[in-house]
Amino acid sequence: MKKLIISFLSIFAALHVWGGVTTSFKISDSALTEQELLKGDIMVALRIYTSSKDMYIGESKNTSFDSMTGSTIFKVEKAGKGICLKNIKTNEYLASKGNKIMRSTKKKEAQIFTPVKITKKVDNTHANADETRSYWLTFQYDNTTYYLNTNTTNHEMPQYATGNGNWSTLYIYKVEKEEITTTPIIPAPKKVTSMKGTLKEWSWDNIAESIDNSMAEEAYTLSITRKGISIKAGSEKGIFYARQSLTQLEEQSHTLPCMVIEDEPRFGYRGFMLDVSRHFFSVNEIKKILDVMARYKMNVFHWHLTDDQGWRAEIKRYPKLTTIGATRSDNYDTPIHKVVENGQTYWTGTGMKTGQTYGPYFYTQDEMREVVAYAAERQIDVLPEVDMPGHFVAALAAYPEYCCHPETTPAVWSGWGVSRDVLNVANPQAVAFAQNILSELCDIFPYPYIHIGGDECPTEQWETNELCQARYKELGLSSYRPLQSRFIKQIADFVTTKGKKLFCWNESVTAGGADLELMKQTGATIMSWHPCQTGVNKAISLGLPAIVTEYHGAGGGYYINRRQSNDLGEPSGAGAGDDSVEGCYNYIPVQGSYAAEQLALIKGVQATFWTEHVGTNEYLEYLALPRLICVAEAGWTEQNQKNWSYFRSRLTGHTKWLDEHHYVYGRHWMEGYVPRKESK
Ligand code: ACM
Repeated sequence: MKKLIISFLSIFAALHVWGGVTTSFKISDSALTEQELLKGDIMVALRIYTSSKDMYIGESKNTSFDSMTGSTIFKVEKAGKGICLKNIKTNEYLASKGNKIMRSTKKKEAQIFTPVKITKKVDNTHANADETRSYWLTFQYDNTTYYLNTNTTNHEMPQYATGNGNWSTLYIYKVEKEEITTTPIIPAPKKVTSMKGTLKEWSWDNIAESIDNSMAEEAYTLSITRKGISIKAGSEKGIFYARQSLTQLEEQSHTLPCMVIEDEPRFGYRGFMLDVSRHFFSVNEIKKILDVMARYKMNVFHWHLTDDQGWRAEIKRYPKLTTIGATRSDNYDTPIHKVVENGQTYWTGTGMKTGQTYGPYFYTQDEMREVVAYAAERQIDVLPEVDMPGHFVAALAAYPEYCCHPETTPAVWSGWGVSRDVLNVANPQAVAFAQNILSELCDIFPYPYIHIGGDECPTEQWETNELCQARYKELGLSSYRPLQSRFIKQIADFVTTKGKKLFCWNESVTAGGADLELMKQTGATIMSWHPCQTGVNKAISLGLPAIVTEYHGAGGGYYINRRQSNDLGEPSGAGAGDDSVEGCYNYIPVQGSYAAEQLALIKGVQATFWTEHVGTNEYLEYLALPRLICVAEAGWTEQNQKNWSYFRSRLTGHTKWLDEHHYVYGRHWMEGYVPRKESK
């Protein structure tokens, strides 16, 4: 329960983003007494915890009472022998009609509640209510006692309910007003102290910069005083981030309010993954993505270079990878067309097969080095991925001798989904093939990690291959999955000789039958997508580092190629359209209750972009922006400093930069956006 309290947000109201001092509301962790509640005149936030979900009374999805974003703050007013609750934003009272929650602006219609403080664990509740801040709010109506927000089992909305049931208790948090200094900077900095005065005359050539080794590597302090600007940082990285912050300040006006920003990231890994197999993106297009990543202080570009549908990395020892492997029989293009109407961007068309050959498309080794260098200038590391032993058909089409059934050579896939054709991990030559490929990539990419995929690997073909069957027998296995674990361990040992460690997708530890003892020995970082939090917990239980890239959680996730709305102007894409910008922003990456050493294993977050449905750079940007920026803030800014309304208010000012640099972006999050109603 504690974790939910810690992760609860500060609430910002009516913020002006530019360097002003403004009022925010902060949830106090101190327990409320019943006397305080009955006395009235305090502000509170209300939360219900049930077996299945958390509900904040006031969230639009959960009650009809209020549709403001975030939690609603109520003013507690004394009324008779009880209290009533007034929404401080709308000035509406919580009222009731039978068991329906209503709103009313008239105090005489306000519901008068009696708070009952719960001082110890109660058994008839889903909430495991064992905390001193738990309450029931009750009232009498027609000789019946009703409870606010009880009986929430299977209810989407909090309700008034009667009698004994699976009650959940109510958590009432005291809310305190606090003055905070706001800036337009994204991601929001850790601490900003505003000072009197402004700085008018300054230039980029005249900034006093120094490295302070006692500071964390990525930390910086940016001081703007009437005398000038100075930056102190833990390393060149910190200097770079300070300059990004200063750039964003300057975009508002060259004259700067005096302030000191003391900043450092929450996570060391703040990534973006791009799949260049399903559709290929040029070096220049990738550079444009790196530019936007750098602006938002993201620091790892995860380059998904290979998959069933195309091999994109030149490997000198295996030239057929980038002839046969880089070409597929159908481009499966997504012939979408952009329509700009009344200043809004819409799209038409659906993805379909075209019958045209796609490729060969690939990056030469020089081009990959060029990307590494360009990224390094922006403090971004490049994490290359060669997905194996599944998602490996492009390689097997070029070198069928390494698959399980070479007699039926697979073709580079021209459809989507998961191929059954996988690397024959029991064939030593096939393992050497994988190692030789990785060996060349280790020389190109200086980042001390290499990603070998490991997701979605069917075992059927191992089950019908003689070498795999023999290995299965020899090891006395009861499933073929451990063959994958053994392969990963072999690869881990191999890349150790190159000074590298592995990244793997979460199936390497969450797939049924995975050999967890072996996985533990690999030391691999687990990139968790689905089920994301389960994968994170599994990694942590094995002592392995984890990266959070939720594919589609309740309300949102970090797979930012998915449809961001059900607007009829939205082009075809993965997902049902409920992966909204707000949902992406509000996804909470750290959800468990962890000891410090476990928490330290959660290394960061990643926005992930698959390109089955995305064939152009323009559409890539449209889906990625601004959700990429949401994930950037999740990577940098502490959870208790994140707030959707505040983020949105800052983001609006960033469209100027996006426009000037010719980015296409989704406008769903923008004030004034009108959803398209008719389908054309
Ligand atoms: C994945 O989305 N298959 C990692």
